[in-house]
Amino acid sequence: MVCNLKGRHFLTLADFTREEIETFLETAKDLKLKAKRGEFPPILSGKSLAMIFEKPSTRTRVSFEVAMYQLGGYALYLSKSDLQLGRGETIADTARVLSRYVDCIMARVYSHSTVEELAKYSSVPVINGLSDKYHPTQVLGDLLTVWEKKGKFEGLKLVYVGDGANNMAHSLLYGATIMGMDITICSPQGYHPDKDVLEKAREFAKRSGSKVEIITDPKEGVKGADIIYTDVWVSMGQESEKEARMKIFQPYRVDTALVSMAKEDAIVMHCLPAHRGEEITDDVMDGPRSVVFDEAENRLHAHKAILALVVI
Ligand code: CP
Ligand code: NVA
Repeated sequence: MVCNLKGRHFLTLADFTREEIETFLETAKDLKLKAKRGEFPPILSGKSLAMIFEKPSTRTRVSFEVAMYQLGGYALYLSKSDLQLGRGETIADTARVLSRYVDCIMARVYSHSTVEELAKYSSVPVINGLSDKYHPTQVLGDLLTVWEKKGKFEGLKLVYVGDGANNMAHSLLYGATIMGMDITICSPQGYHPDKDVLEKAREFAKRSGSKVEIITDPKEGVKGADIIYTDVWVSMGQESEKEARMKIFQPYRVDTALVSMAKEDAIVMHCLPAHRGEEITDDVMDGPRSVVFDEAENRLHAHKAILALVVI
């Protein structure tokens, strides 16, 4: 089934049904295939994307910008200090004004409420390019990667090792449970997912027939894993907690010993940037199970799909 997604905001995967996510994935797969053949349909000709960044970015910035370019459109990079937002213009007024110029707004923000506010006052679709709570564009690219590598979602077990309360853990909880994958979050006490996210993920899991498990022991967690996923121990905006986090998360490093406890054909994923030697060792990151650079590439194809489907 192909769903109509024109005009929709992309703030969290929880706003989409399984069929809608499948539509994004099918479109991404098709655009990827075309790109590999050197075909770049100019379907966004004359369209513009404003990209607001409160935090740094390599993948999100470059892949959205290239996605717009390859689809015939134009992207503007706007750091907070480039905008009057940095001098006190409200988020609401910024959204109202940008909506008069561009066809879509993508924003990377500290507080999730900022993208919600942008969406509330924008008359064009708003895409969450990472907030403190969610990172949905990353997980869409990750779902594309899982689909390519494993050919399915149902019956797979994804094990996330690390900070269970961060944006990646939250978005993976939604992405997995909506698509019917089992998900285990292995994180220390005090770093388990937010209650509201967990409740919603459990509802999705009930609907799709998948399982959600929250545990503290990574060795126990990775047993039977098809996918091991990790992310940095200190997310952007948490720098003041660095010292405490570096101690607490030591047992949560994804190394060869941990990976050997998963299924023989398990893949290792990381949204990147990686802090090599902290949450993931060099040998795992550069080893045969790692698909981290395929994931990074798939951001480009997934972003093209989002833009192609939501921009009016
Ligand atoms: N994974 C990700 O969002 O990377 P950037 O911070 O480089 O955009
Ligand atoms: N959890 C990380 C993801 C980076 C893509 C962060 O927010 O910094």
